[in-house]
Order: sequence, then structure tokens, then C-alpha cells
Amino acid sequence: MQLSLLSAAAVLAPEVSALLRFSCSQLVTERLDPLVDPGKAPSQHVHQIVGGNAFKPEMTGDVPSQASCTTCEFADDFSNYWTAVLYFRARNGTFKRVPQMPNQGFEAADGGITIYYTPSYNGQKVTAFQPGFRMIVGNPTYRTREQASRYRQLTYTCLDQPGTRTGETVEMPNRPCNYGIMANIRFPTCWDGKTLDPPDHSSHVAYPESGTFESGGPCPASHPVKIPQLFYEVIWDTRQFNDRSIWPEDGSQPFVWSYGDKTGYGNHGDYVFGWKGDALQVAMDTDCYITCPQLRRQSFQTGNQCKVPRVINEDIDGWLTELPGGIPVTGSPTKREEAWEA
Ligand SMILES: *[C@@H]1O[C@H](CO)[C@@H](O)[C@H](O)[C@H]1NC(C)=O
Repeated sequence: MQLSLLSAAAVLAPEVSALLRFSCSQLVTERLDPLVDPGKAPSQHVHQIVGGNAFKPEMTGDVPSQASCTTCEFADDFSNYWTAVLYFRARNGTFKRVPQMPNQGFEAADGGITIYYTPSYNGQKVTAFQPGFRMIVGNPTYRTREQASRYRQLTYTCLDQPGTRTGETVEMPNRPCNYGIMANIRFPTCWDGKTLDPPDHSSHVAYPESGTFESGGPCPASHPVKIPQLFYEVIWDTRQFNDRSIWPEDGSQPFVWSYGDKTGYGNHGDYVFGWKGDALQVAMDTDCYITCPQLRRQSFQTGNQCKVPRVINEDIDGWLTELPGGIPVTGSPTKREEAWEA
């Protein structure tokens, strides 16, 4: 297990000194979005949420003090992390939710998201997120490669094997992926230093002015504070849908996001910071690598038991005649498969 963790991280981050990598199991899956649609139940599209059980339709006040458990391996992380969920569209037009599975090394987890916090690649100190900090990366309305290029590192990996980490694409993979599809969501790494959560949930963060986070590029003057790189890996278990005879006759791929996107360009992720005290800053300031003994841990079994009851009464798992919320599917199928470059 340790070997596979290390090799996965080595491919990802050849020069990094410190790195947090951990699993957060599923907390609840339903149409809620306390960032974009606070208080609205249901919100527009289905999300899969992981993390602390303070998650609810409207989130205000101090997150860790409102939570009593978390689905994450680090017991002091009551943050919430969420993404859209994937559906398979059959030839007869009905939809079935694609199951979700844990990453290599995290097999005991109840699905969920693999979370990374990477401080910096050149040993520079970073400022951990502050209480009240929230952000969104990506835009669910995007359906073209040009739009998607506004964000640098929202990609897909077609998993031929559990450990495949090459050939990232900006569009949904256009061929069957033996072991499933991994969605990769990397957030910007520069902060304006003062705004916790602007109305658009994203203008307070920015990408490096030149180069990349990985190359140690400097932050722009407007967003001078280096923050850790937050990164989600989410694996969708497409194996029961990989037979080409059930794929669309036009040769396009059959998967659509819960927000109606068949291109993949609307890939997005949401974050509500909720680490207790200064636990995250302590981890970022040390050279802890992946397991970070400085942080309090809990077993997968304990994390798997933390759940939030669903509040929206609707079927999201049967063969559905439409996506939950009646969201139409949009975007032209793409035949391109271009490798992502940093
Ligand atoms: C549509 O296709 C799926 C997959 O083949 C099948 O399970 C389902 O029963 C079909 N639904 C209808 C209404 O024909």
C-alpha cells in the first residue's frame, strides 16, 4: 500500500517536499449546493459531498464547531468537498448514475474523493486557508474547449489500470476506460489575502502570473498570497457501461454530468474550508509526507460511519427518464483526445 501511494505521488509531484494526500468517504449525494444556491433545497444539480457533517443547504458560521464527525481520514478536517456526479445515458435515452469508487490504497473507504494539499514545489511557505474560506473552480455552463481553457487543470484520466496517471484530457475520454474515469480538479494557488468568499466564489483566487504552480511561478500582484494547491481525484466506476454495443450509435461517449454536460468541459469542484484550529497550517509548515503523523487520524470504518441524511426526496439512482432536476443534456460530442499540458 505504501508503495502504491508513493509511486502515485511521485508521478504527480517529483520535487515536492511536503504533501497531504488522504481519502474522504461519501457523506451524502443529493441536489444541494450551499455555495451557489444557499438555502435552496433542491438546488439545480446532483452533487457528491464528502467531509464534515455540518454540511447543510445553507452553511453559516464556524464549520468545525458545528460538526461532530467527518468522512476524512484526518479527524480534524471538517471541510466539505464536492463535485457533480456522473450518469450513463442509454441508447433509449434513460439515465443511470455511475457508481463511484475509492482510489488505490484507499480500498476500505466508502467511495468518495482523494484530497491533496500541496504546499509548494520549492520549499516556500504557504498560508493555509482561513476560517470562512470557500471557493469554486470550473464552470458547469462551459461546453467548449476554449471556455474550459480559462481553467488550467481540470482534466480526466482514462484509467486503463487503477494506477494510470498519464494522458490527462480536458474533455471526457472518448473510449471505454477499463478501470473507470478519474476526474482531476486542481484549484488555483494564489489568494488576494483578504476575501474569504466573494459573491462569485472564485475571484479571490488566481493562477500564478507566469509559469505554473508546479514550476514555482510567482503569484500576481492582485493575488499575492501563496495558498496550498487543493486537488481532488474522483473515480467513476464505468466498468458496467464499457461495452461499445451500448454506446451511442454515432460513436460518441455515453457519459453526462449531472449538470447536463456531455463534453466534460464544465468540470468543477467546490470547497468549504473547515479544518479545526491551525491543524492545516501546522501540516503545511512541516515536511510531513502523505501520512502526516502530526495530524490526528481516524480509521476508514469510523469515517465511513459519518453520514448526513438526505433531505431531498427524489430518485437519483434508478433508470431515470431525465437527469434529476430535469436538466437538459447539452454540448456536441467530441472526437478529439488531446493530452493536457501544464
Ligand atoms: C433503457 O435501457 C436500459 C439499458 O439497456 C434498460 O435497463 C432500461 O430498462 C431501458 N428502459 C426502457 C424504458 O426501455
